[in-house]
Amino acid sequence: MRTYKIAAIPADGIGPEVIAAGLQALQALARRDGGFALEVTQFDWGSDRYKRTGALMPEDGTETLKAYDAILFGAVGAPDVADHLTLWGLRLPICQGFDQYANVRPTRILPGIQAPLAGVGPGDLDWVIVRENSEGEYAGMGGRAHRGLPEEVATEVAVFTRAGVSRIMRYAFKLAQSRPRKLLTVVTKSNAQRHGMVMWDEIAAEVSAEFPDVTWDKMLVDAMTVRMVKEPRSLDTIVATNLHADILSDLAGALAGSLGVAPTANIDPERRYPSMFEPIHGSAFDITGKGIANPVATFWTAAQMLEHLGETAAASRMMRAVERTCAAGTVTPDVGGTATTQDVTDAVCRAIRGENI
Ligand SMILES: NC(=O)c1ccc[n+]([C@@H]2O[C@H](COP(=O)([O-])OP(=O)(O)OC[C@H]3O[C@@H](n4cnc5c(N)ncnc54)[C@H](O)[C@@H]3O)[C@@H](O)[C@H]2O)c1
Repeated sequence: MRTYKIAAIPADGIGPEVIAAGLQALQALARRDGGFALEVTQFDWGSDRYKRTGALMPEDGTETLKAYDAILFGAVGAPDVADHLTLWGLRLPICQGFDQYANVRPTRILPGIQAPLAGVGPGDLDWVIVRENSEGEYAGMGGRAHRGLPEEVATEVAVFTRAGVSRIMRYAFKLAQSRPRKLLTVVTKSNAQRHGMVMWDEIAAEVSAEFPDVTWDKMLVDAMTVRMVKEPRSLDTIVATNLHADILSDLAGALAGSLGVAPTANIDPERRYPSMFEPIHGSAFDITGKGIANPVATFWTAAQMLEHLGETAAASRMMRAVERTCAAGTVTPDVGGTATTQDVTDAVCRAIRGENI
């Protein structure tokens, strides 16, 4: 029996609701498979802990996580705590501390889910966005001086290194190569940002030489938003900086029906540290506690986690169960249904148990 140690950090808002759903489906998969087990440890890190103790996680938090095979994360953010404190107090120290430099965000229109673009259904929008996850605009470089005075100054410095850009380009080209269309779009803004983004473009061209079978093109990020809406079929794998991909992947989630169906994996491709899996969405204060959070993004990221752990059959089974459930119309209100989080979870678990494959 293969046993995986999973660290669950549900954190804030709807995080605990969707992580509970994800764990229920994962345990159903483990039972159905019979070849692996998940040993889950829950951590109460998040904004409540911050309000109690002044820190979102213990000082040795990342040290503790090193003992795990993977991390399943909910969402962090509370209405009464500043967003930069919660993000930099929990999620980013894990992503950056574990050098999870590839943030992988698949987007597809699932059967049964009403997507907002006219004439665009399942099969017409099938993308993977690769987000640079360790530097760029979220490197944390900069500062503030003369606070509160008229001459106050604040800088936010985007950092691009040859090592950081090369490794994310190589990851994206390799991923594009592994997909049937072998098609990559490199998102840039090198017209206005003439240092970091010009180097980004140059390195993309250099790395492309290692992947002659991958067709690639380059898009300015502003034009990319138009192309995503107008020509979704023309895109397949996409690579972008930390900030650009952050924004584009919310758009991608919305074009696939809802943020509630959009997953993400923070991967350390070299496997030196545990990778972290989470839905793209945040704490969703407006629906917290109502029992209607869409758990599909969490199921999908759980499938990404299983894939990363090498349990590919269970990962595919999870996605088939999700697709069957959505196709049958068991979906939450954000995608036009009336089902609760628990209804969807129970239906997915039934599909997992009942599938005869
Ligand atoms: N990775 C993270 O932990 C993360 C990501 C984004 C935002 N946040 C934080 O979350 C808080 C709220 O941020 P926001 O409102 O900008 O974004 P959000 O993703 O929480 O919510 C945006 C909208 O999408 C809806 N939505 C999101 N997930 C859903 C789901 N699973 N099912 C149904 N509807 C869903 C919400 O109801 C809301 O209307 C902030 O504190 C922010 O900093 C955290």
